[in-house]
Amino acid sequence: MSQKLIGRVSALALAAALSASLGACATAPAAVDDSMAQIQNVPKPVNRIADSHSYARPADARVVHVDLDLKADFDAHVLSGKATLDVTGRRGVDEVILDVRNLDIRSVTDAQGRALAWSVGADQAFMGQPLTVKLPTFAGHETQKVVIDYATRPDASALQWLNPQQTAGKQKPFLFSQGQAILTRTWIPTQDSPGIRQTYTARIEAPADLTVVMAAEMLTPGGEATTPGHKAWRFRMANPIPPYLIAIGVGDLAFAPLDERTGVWAEPSSLEASRHELEPTAQMVDAAEALYGPYLWGRYDLLMLPPSFPFGGMENPMLTFATPTIIAGDRSLVSLVAHELAHSWSGNLVTNANWDDFWLNEGFTSYFENRIMEAVYGRDAAVQEQVLAWGGLQDELKSLPPEDTRLHLDLTGRDPDEGMNTIAYDKGAAFVRTMERIAGREVFDAWLRGYFERNAWVPMTSELFLKDVREHLVKGDAALEAALMLDEWVYQPGLPSNAVAPVSNAFSVVDQAANAFYVDRGPASAIAWSDWNTQQRQRFLSWRPTGGTGAWLTEAQLSDLNQTLNLDAEGNSEVRFAWLQVALAHRYEPSVASAEAFLTSMGRRKFVLPLFQTLWNQGDWGQAHARRIYAKARPLYHPVTTGSVDAVVGQN
Ligand code: BES
Ligand code: ZN
Repeated sequence: MSQKLIGRVSALALAAALSASLGACATAPAAVDDSMAQIQNVPKPVNRIADSHSYARPADARVVHVDLDLKADFDAHVLSGKATLDVTGRRGVDEVILDVRNLDIRSVTDAQGRALAWSVGADQAFMGQPLTVKLPTFAGHETQKVVIDYATRPDASALQWLNPQQTAGKQKPFLFSQGQAILTRTWIPTQDSPGIRQTYTARIEAPADLTVVMAAEMLTPGGEATTPGHKAWRFRMANPIPPYLIAIGVGDLAFAPLDERTGVWAEPSSLEASRHELEPTAQMVDAAEALYGPYLWGRYDLLMLPPSFPFGGMENPMLTFATPTIIAGDRSLVSLVAHELAHSWSGNLVTNANWDDFWLNEGFTSYFENRIMEAVYGRDAAVQEQVLAWGGLQDELKSLPPEDTRLHLDLTGRDPDEGMNTIAYDKGAAFVRTMERIAGREVFDAWLRGYFERNAWVPMTSELFLKDVREHLVKGDAALEAALMLDEWVYQPGLPSNAVAPVSNAFSVVDQAANAFYVDRGPASAIAWSDWNTQQRQRFLSWRPTGGTGAWLTEAQLSDLNQTLNLDAEGNSEVRFAWLQVALAHRYEPSVASAEAFLTSMGRRKFVLPLFQTLWNQGDWGQAHARRIYAKARPLYHPVTTGSVDAVVGQN
């Protein structure tokens, strides 16, 4: 409650500070006064929800704060320095267990520099190792400090070190991190579980010609001089966050404000295009607040990354990381911003306690994203996105083993990165939309607003979610309970019978045109392409014959389509991707060069993986192309992307 109030005050103070400082420094957002009252949260009671993807035993001892003092070495591709952890423990406990993977630990001491005994356990695939540190026995209320002197390895999965050639400007190197789901342990020795929320502070030293940003408040805009040729940058995240949200970017970066609390960081050469594309952001934050309550994080900025960023977006708090593939020129792909922004409530405030309930993060966020789109762009635009997602969901339901189509999963023993699929997003959103439809929008919105408020800063599970719905939405109404089919949605495979397919009028004309072209084999010149928006174009290109297998177009039709609509040269990444999926599935040789250009120009896994998979499915023809293109593209990709594509394109 008081959290909410202070969050508001802080946002206002930030806004005032920004407008005061704009004249002096147009390249960075406002400095935050070190002495300013903070959004400090008292950690909630001990988390007892199990997380099979962490070695930590938070009921015994847990990390509540991390202080980083690290130096970025762009020659060695190493971050090294100290992590000082504040640890609380249960009376009688004399150790804390952390998660680490591929870290070089040099020493572990207490705050006075006295050595603490430590040991690292067996390394398990994707989990890494437990780092156990012996401590003086906890009396029960105190906080103990653990200082870990360490270095990352050049191949840390969370980090990508880019050479200048891999950046937009091609002059300077770049570093960025990606923590979700369990990669933070490859660059920070802490308890890497989404249920173990931690505040953090950081001091990062980097070459003086680069700028350091973190998903936190920047305390030192412009950086502070240290040793010759280097600068240090300090940050603070005063809200307790799950460690997968700790994030850093270092590169040749400039800042452009959008409004008083939103802005864009990008390489100078892409700053203007990024600023233009992301201009709707400010309005989206306002719309989101009007829907589900105040934005509690102060600033909302975006960092436009180099093209190898493996995701579309990542909801790092206060600073969403985004792929440049959303820069279409016409803002047609900005729903991604709505999505990452929505995570500021669903995900970053109310967080899945472990990765089995990833759907709680992504399903609610996909729903909330669509509500923001509706508020800013109107109902038609929002429904078009719903219909596209629904189509994707039908494909996903057909292609996955039924047990993987449940919302609540059991990912024990599996790499969470592989267990997580679009079911969490699209079936999750369909569920939330079903709740809205049955309860009525007004009643539903009031419940969801309350759900965020009641459960802010605490880990959430499917079970707790259901309890909250029953207590605060169903409230004993037996007819409502029956109509919602809550348990079936959460625990059963497939789609419950109360799911309703969304329908878009804007797609009826597209579907007619698709029928004329694909079924009746009419000419591509009859397609009203230039009248259509991006979503209509995606709809047209994602048409597939019902129940059919193999090719659905002739070579002549493919050429007609390609030439009439100039698809091989399409600049919108989603449309280009949709076309290449069609072309490659037909072994259409003329488009291979376009596919190669696309696959070597960005590393977004959502595009890269399906295209290599489609090629690979085409026998010798596709496999030869896949091997050749991958040999060229792989060095450009992030470990997250290569990790997935390696499994498709055999590394022999
Ligand atoms: N949090 C996810 C990205 C993620 C998921 C990273 C799982 C690591 C593991 C992010 O919010 C997301 O969903 N991004 C989507 C875009 C969105 C518009 C659906 C993406 O990257 O494509
Ligand atoms: Zn998401």
